Amino acid sequence: MSNIDPFWTGKTFDDFLFRPQKSITRSRRDINLSLALSSSINLHLPIISSNMDSVTSASMARVIASEGGMGVIHRGMSIARQASEVSNVKRSQSAIIEQPLCLPVSASVKQARAFRSKHSITGILIETAVGSGILAGLLSNRDMPWDRTQDHQSVEHFMTPVDKLITAHPGICTSEASQILYQNRIERLPLVDEQNRIMGLITSKDIASLTARPFANNDEKGKLIVAAAVGAHGDYLERTAALIEAGADCLFVDIAHGHSVVMETAITELRKHYGNVLLVAGNIASYEGARFMRDIGVDAIKVGIGPGKGCRTRLETAAGVPQLQAINEAWQAVGDEIPIIADGGVRTDKDIFLALIAGASSVMLGSALSGTDEAPGHVIVDPVTHMKKKIYRGMTSPQAVFGAMDDDHDGESPDIMETPAEGQEMQVPYKGSVVDILHRIRGHLRSSVSYAGENELAAARKKVLEDPARYLIALSEASRIESYER
Ligand code: XMP
Repeated sequence: MSNIDPFWTGKTFDDFLFRPQKSITRSRRDINLSLALSSSINLHLPIISSNMDSVTSASMARVIASEGGMGVIHRGMSIARQASEVSNVKRSQSAIIEQPLCLPVSASVKQARAFRSKHSITGILIETAVGSGILAGLLSNRDMPWDRTQDHQSVEHFMTPVDKLITAHPGICTSEASQILYQNRIERLPLVDEQNRIMGLITSKDIASLTARPFANNDEKGKLIVAAAVGAHGDYLERTAALIEAGADCLFVDIAHGHSVVMETAITELRKHYGNVLLVAGNIASYEGARFMRDIGVDAIKVGIGPGKGCRTRLETAAGVPQLQAINEAWQAVGDEIPIIADGGVRTDKDIFLALIAGASSVMLGSALSGTDEAPGHVIVDPVTHMKKKIYRGMTSPQAVFGAMDDDHDGESPDIMETPAEGQEMQVPYKGSVVDILHRIRGHLRSSVSYAGENELAAARKKVLEDPARYLIALSEASRIESYER
């Protein structure tokens, strides 16, 4: 306990202002915001979307990774569905889709429609027979009959046959492929060998998004990165196996109270079965909790007990640590040896900068990203005010727990049930696309770095951590009102 810095004790987001420094920035566009999520993953925008069923499934994860952050697919669903959400993200953008999804020529149009919406794809490669891997044709959206009375017919009647398709050899480079796509005004280029064996697929959409997204976080194959959550008991080993198989880059072992024997056993088992898989674990909120996580060998630590908007933990149990104190305690415990993810309580963009200069390397957002097009759930129109809303809910809220049970095809109660309701459901304003929110966060973070007199977020973070009292001003009640009340 002696290493806890009293400067941060009892402090959270609205307790500080940052003392402006002489700016060295000529253009804010040049400010680099990259920080480490783990020893092997760097985030160009250090933002992670929360593993909550009203925040992150494939759609959110795709967009946030394209903008430089990362999404964590929630676990309030069956193993098969969560794995399919992960593979949906991995398939969404890469220069080459290595194992394109196929249907056989005998598949019906109805099956093709279901296949298309299940995998969110607009063109399906058709193979000569189930599992043959030999290209017979391509069924694009344009080939699909509008008339539903033809749904029983086989796709063979509607596809463009292989002899009329433009294909290329595997090994073609991206720029050559993009020329062929453009010159022929086509959207898909199947890659085949001399025997027409399917070796991959290149789409114009993927090539365009590769070049249009300068901040995207990609794996070594050019695919977007994605994480997924697992628990610490019940089906977590089986779930982990399926998520790794689906291509998850990182697993979040996420339970309400991570500083626990349950977590210790889970990490030991996960390491035993899956070796070096990247494991982020949480949540903890203390120096001892962070040391514990370091000692059991996790790759990154998630910090935050009860600051979240949908959380009732502090109200129901009295447990918790003010969030900036919690982040700094964890950083005092592990330094930069193990990256810290600050989770929960961010209400305005300045909170993100404060979390980072208190010691976090990235910040997890729930409510700040909720209500967007990419967050799961429908837009509701309030019958009285006509305002558009979406639902945001804590993962231990009764509604989220029942939602998870509905999706559990084995009929077993999810392990989230082990925690009594410490979360609540609420309506939040509909906010449009999350892309605009991420652009705004990037802009504000760059401005914060400029006020800190640096051109790199990492440098601003380092200098404040070395001497917080020099850069941060603790606020009186009057200065808090002057700063934040409008
Ligand atoms: P924000 O403030 O960004 O917080 O909405 C998101 C984080 O809240 C946590 N979370 C919960 N905490 N009971 C809790 O005490 C819950 O039911 C619950 N659901 C989510 C979680 O850490 C999330 O990232």
